[in-house]
Amino acid sequence: MTIKTIFVVGAGTMGNGIAQVAATSGYQVTCMDVMPAALEKAKAAIAKSTGKLLEKGTITAEQKANADAIQFVSNMDTMDAADFVIEAATENPELKFKIFKEMDAAARRGVILASNTSSISITKIAAQTNRPERVIGMHFMNPVPLMRLVEIIKGLATSEETLSTTLELCKVMGKEAWEANDSPGFISNRILCPMINEAIFTLQEGIGTKEAIDAVMKLGMNHPMGPLALADLIGLDVVLSIMEVLHRDLGEDKYRPAPLLRKMVDAGYLGRKTGRGFYNY
Ligand code: CAA
Repeated sequence: MTIKTIFVVGAGTMGNGIAQVAATSGYQVTCMDVMPAALEKAKAAIAKSTGKLLEKGTITAEQKANADAIQFVSNMDTMDAADFVIEAATENPELKFKIFKEMDAAARRGVILASNTSSISITKIAAQTNRPERVIGMHFMNPVPLMRLVEIIKGLATSEETLSTTLELCKVMGKEAWEANDSPGFISNRILCPMINEAIFTLQEGIGTKEAIDAVMKLGMNHPMGPLALADLIGLDVVLSIMEVLHRDLGEDKYRPAPLLRKMVDAGYLGRKTGRGFYNY
């Protein structure tokens, strides 16, 4: 089946980035969120990002116009028109399971349902649907318009045809896809989030200031940004939920979330999106 229209569920940081890149890659895109404020924020974020990319000559005026034409909706009523569905809701297993049941009912039979989950089992997500062979993990990186990687995860039932269609879609979206097995955190967050968590322990134990920790990793390891600044970019709530999945599902103490991380999430200091995390924005 030729893919012409893509429906993105969730208009947060990842959802709006995915919707933008799908649109600038030539697809007709609908972006859905139950929260009107999230849709407004997504619209503004896409306008700002595509404006910047147009100014730099990274995208054309036609590509920007396609992003400006993204439809924003608050329910799944028009999902039956979509040829491919990508879920990018909050990283919460119960919520994702519920959304996949709803997507399974709303999307046409045979349409692939991809999840942008960063840690939750694709096999478990797929089992919520009547089409587990058409469910796949498609894990984009933040900021989606700038990052080349998409991590691809097959669940136990995912078919080879679903995999090849998804790999082709990644290519059209200008992304480089790498496959990881369906294991907690896959490759990216099995490595990245424990590193960030350790940086938070390092801060909590007073081994260095936040500036020193970030500078050591930036200047000493050539990381584009320090781990605490990166946690602010990803969202501290997201980092915490990924660490909880790793801790619970791998069952090892080394994955326990840093108490300071938990405390900051409790305080609502979630990073850039709330204006305050390890740094102020
Ligand atoms: N759209 C368009 N332009 C954008 C943008 C966006 N969404 N975000 C940033 N930019 C632009 C900036 O405006 C800036 O433009 P100017 O040069 O005109 O000022 C340019 O990109 C460079 O940005 P910065 O100067 O702010 O900073 P930078 O050079 O460090 O680049 C970065 C920014 C690409 C984010 C870089 O710091 C980086 O690669 N950081 C690491 C990101 C990373 O690790 N992401 C993965 C997170 S993990 C994840 O996503 C998965 C998960 O499951 C948790």
